[in-house]
Amino acid sequence: MLTSIASSVQALNPKPSEKTFARALILWYRKQDRKLPWRERFAATGDPFAVWVSEIMLQQTTIQAVLPAYARFFETFPDIVALAKAEEEEVRLACRGLGYYRRFRFLHQAAQELVRRDPKGHAWPKDFKTWRELPGIGDYTAAAISSIAFGYAKGVVDGNVERVLCRLLDLRVVVDASWKRSFQKVVDALIDPEAPGDFNQAFMELGQTVCTKQNPDCSRCPLHKVCQAAQNQSQHLAPQPKPPMAFEDVSLHLWILEHKGKIGLATRHDEARFLKGSLGFPTAHEGKRGRFTWDSEVTCEPSPMILGPFRHSITKHKIEAKVHLYKLSKPLPELEWTPHEEVETRLLANLDRKAWKLYEKHRTRLDPQLLA
Ligand code: ADE
Ligand code: SF4
Repeated sequence: MLTSIASSVQALNPKPSEKTFARALILWYRKQDRKLPWRERFAATGDPFAVWVSEIMLQQTTIQAVLPAYARFFETFPDIVALAKAEEEEVRLACRGLGYYRRFRFLHQAAQELVRRDPKGHAWPKDFKTWRELPGIGDYTAAAISSIAFGYAKGVVDGNVERVLCRLLDLRVVVDASWKRSFQKVVDALIDPEAPGDFNQAFMELGQTVCTKQNPDCSRCPLHKVCQAAQNQSQHLAPQPKPPMAFEDVSLHLWILEHKGKIGLATRHDEARFLKGSLGFPTAHEGKRGRFTWDSEVTCEPSPMILGPFRHSITKHKIEAKVHLYKLSKPLPELEWTPHEEVETRLLANLDRKAWKLYEKHRTRLDPQLLA
């Protein structure tokens, strides 16, 4: 148990007036001088947009995966005004391959809101609380953006920071919500108000590159002297691993609907079980007694012509998916009717892409009568 926030902070930072902890961390960070495109872009332009976009992309996504998407995004949308003017579809395309598409719809909506407040896009929120009020911005992202782009002193607690703190304090526990709240207080007390952005990025980066999950390299660590796990040789015991995720089996149905060479696509709503906000084929998951719950506005009938099943995993869900085929004589108005050759580029989710591949593979062999 964390006996008290104050004593933990004191153990890490024996001389608070000298900011020993923050100073060691920030010095190390500046020496690393890691070239990440959002850092370079923000250093060069001072544009908070550069930081904002990176922090949204980095939610639940690795730096490696973000790098190419970040570059592509700025080719399309160099600033907040360009993003605010864009069509939803363009935003989706610019963020291809990153998953969790709802976050980019929120980003787009928030950009439009800020440009409504000031057409030049200078109406930036400046502190943690006002960032937190924008759609799609949680504690972690609000703290990251407000500290990095505006020098606001609020600590970031991500998975890396949690692991480093557990080791620093030799906490051999499973990190739950209550631990996270304690960690937030500890980081808020340790942060250097004169360089909160560097402090936060340093803490995250230390977890990414030195205090890694498997092989913490304590000899390179700027916090070695105050680290209780290093002292006790218990780096591998802190934190305790989370119990493995329980997998859930899901039976999912997709419909590939065709009308005069065009394919009907639908935007999944925000209450959809998976892939909220993504554009794809109409989908439903099958509940008890074969009842369907739909992910978008359209509902369809089961088809006599089914492809699959194929398997696919999304987070903790093991999906068995069946693809229903229909040729419609009248197009449903709720769907976006997309020419065959454009379907592939418009699909973002791997689930939809797998269904489309399966369809393409079998298309030439399907009996047109059966589809009618
Ligand atoms: N992860 C999320 N945001 C980050 C940042 N700004 N620097 C390093 N890692 C991060
Ligand atoms: Fe992690 Fe080792 Fe540094 Fe402690 S000394 S914070 S275990 S890298």
